[in-house]
Amino acid sequence: MHLLIPAAGLGKRMGGDRNKLLLTLLKRPLLTWTLRAAEASERITWIGIMGQSYDFKAFREILREANLSKPVELIEGGVTRQESVYNGLQGLPEGAEGVLIHDGARCLATPQLFDRCAIALESCSGLIAAVPVKDTIKVVGDGGIIQSTPDRANLWAAQTPQGFEVKLLKECHEKGKQLGWEVTDDAALFERCDLPVEIVQGEETNLKITTPVDLAIAEFILQNRS
Ligand code: CTP
Ligand code: MG
Repeated sequence: MHLLIPAAGLGKRMGGDRNKLLLTLLKRPLLTWTLRAAEASERITWIGIMGQSYDFKAFREILREANLSKPVELIEGGVTRQESVYNGLQGLPEGAEGVLIHDGARCLATPQLFDRCAIALESCSGLIAAVPVKDTIKVVGDGGIIQSTPDRANLWAAQTPQGFEVKLLKECHEKGKQLGWEVTDDAALFERCDLPVEIVQGEETNLKITTPVDLAIAEFILQNRS
């Protein structure tokens, strides 16, 4: 199974002076933790990392330290996550049939989650890891007034990995590019093309490191794992 890791963001909400994936979590760069999980997965055989070219030097250093046994390619990222994944798809090896896409910022995903997604992709063409929503979610309209309260039983929080048949995902990305669709995950492109996307049970600890408090929580979770 091929794995693409979007890692070309700016980390604006983290408020630091560089890509948040270069920040340190228990003495190691955040991206290293993501790569370690990918390395330990039994199913992942190839890794592509989409980054901004100015980060490549740091990424190469991370790769040197991590000393992975699997082949890794650095691929030029884009201005948006969507563009980064588009570029990543063009950078896949010839003949790649399935791909998992996993945000570099979700550095707590376990190797077992990668494997569960890879196995599930053998019997479907689109899937995402997700967990049931715990909070009651409100749809809020103009003036901060609540419009509606969707039934929580139908609500899931989307995570990554998200897995797809490469040929189909490429077609969805092409269509999205042509029609100017702007989406925050790949499943949304699949959905807009009326293609089914299955849910794979995600992990409650598979949080996306977005703001400084997430770093503190991630540190706590990692500490309790080792
Ligand atoms: N990403 C990417 N290319 C972009 C933007 C984001 O590959 N142009 C990646 C990020 O590196 C991250 C993942 O997509 O691993 C999820 O994005 P997000 O959490 O929003 O990260 P950032 O965009 O870096 O953060 P922010 O939105 O706060 O700037
Ligand atoms: Mg972002």
